[in-house]
Amino acid sequence: MEPAIKYHLIKTEKHTGARLGEIETPHGTFPTPIFMPVGTQATVKAMSPEELEAIGADIILSNTYHLWVRPGEDIVKEAGGLHKFMNWKKGILTDSGGFQVFSLAKLRDITEEGVHFQNEISGAKMFLSPEKAIQIENDLGPDIMMSLDECPPFFESYDYVKHSVERTSRWAERGLKAHQNPSWQALFGIVQGAGYKDLREQSARDLVSLDFPGYSIGGLSVGESKDEMNRVLEFTTPMLPETKPRYLMGVGSPDSLIDGVIRGVDMFDCVLPTRIARNGTCMTSHGRLVVKNAKYARDFTPIDDHCDCYTCRNFTRAYVRHLMKTDETFGLRLTSIHNTYFLVHLMKQVRQAIQDDNLLEFRAAFFEEYGYNQP
Ligand code: GUN
Ligand code: ZN
Repeated sequence: MEPAIKYHLIKTEKHTGARLGEIETPHGTFPTPIFMPVGTQATVKAMSPEELEAIGADIILSNTYHLWVRPGEDIVKEAGGLHKFMNWKKGILTDSGGFQVFSLAKLRDITEEGVHFQNEISGAKMFLSPEKAIQIENDLGPDIMMSLDECPPFFESYDYVKHSVERTSRWAERGLKAHQNPSWQALFGIVQGAGYKDLREQSARDLVSLDFPGYSIGGLSVGESKDEMNRVLEFTTPMLPETKPRYLMGVGSPDSLIDGVIRGVDMFDCVLPTRIARNGTCMTSHGRLVVKNAKYARDFTPIDDHCDCYTCRNFTRAYVRHLMKTDETFGLRLTSIHNTYFLVHLMKQVRQAIQDDNLLEFRAAFFEEYGYNQP
């Protein structure tokens, strides 16, 4: 059987582990490394699919957990799947729900069978198993879906993480068996293991033996330092096959994207650009800009003088500030467009730097301009 997606490695950068590649999906081919904007509720907050497409987004992420709770995967299936439901014609990846249950739900209980928890909206008792997660993802119909995993805290004990990794491997295998549509939906396994090298190795070995079409790296950006994250990536990516895509989950600060690419990561997602946009924080080539600040009241320049996005081509800091101060929804749209464009465009520049074998020079120049210590 032909796999649902195909990864082509075009080249590896001369001085780093950065990979230039391409992923073919049922909803188009996109270049890697890539940043995926997050559309938790089947919408990337404040933006239309047309705006997202104009920004240059090729694939977005959505969440099994949220769509299961509301409106219910049966309704999305009846609509003809997530692509039709939300009118997005390019790629979609869904997270499995495990991470959201662990971070959002109260009163949860993890067992070998799955996770019991209470629905925060209705109060109803719910149960998410590896098979249930796959059934929901099969019904939602994304191009790429995630196995149910457990994401333990980064500084959890070795024994706990070891048992958790072993369970995540068993859950991955159960999910693979339950998967109904391998010819048009690619299921990824998620490597866990916190900061322990031998547990990351065990996790990678287990999942690679199951031959997934792609591998995610989970359990990072959960409170550990940037140095810790880079250290884990440094030893984890070489444990994964060169012929398959690698996806670092939940990472989206500009410096972490560049440092992840340098260590061989191909895909990233994060709520960061859209979340900070909604409180008026903009990512710019000179670092973060809080557009609500009084000093921008009479600033008639764009948010970022180096940016070609719709917002920066047409509006000024003074105007965006005014909209944010008056709680106008158009303000949220303008800052969300700008921040999403900023990361999509950053990845375009990163791909060019891989092509030109000057990624380390690009990194140095970017960090200098952005302000090294900014998150
Ligand atoms: N999103 C960010 N980190 C993780 C993780 O470790 N697992 C899952 N499923 N989603 C994530
Ligand atoms: Zn802009």
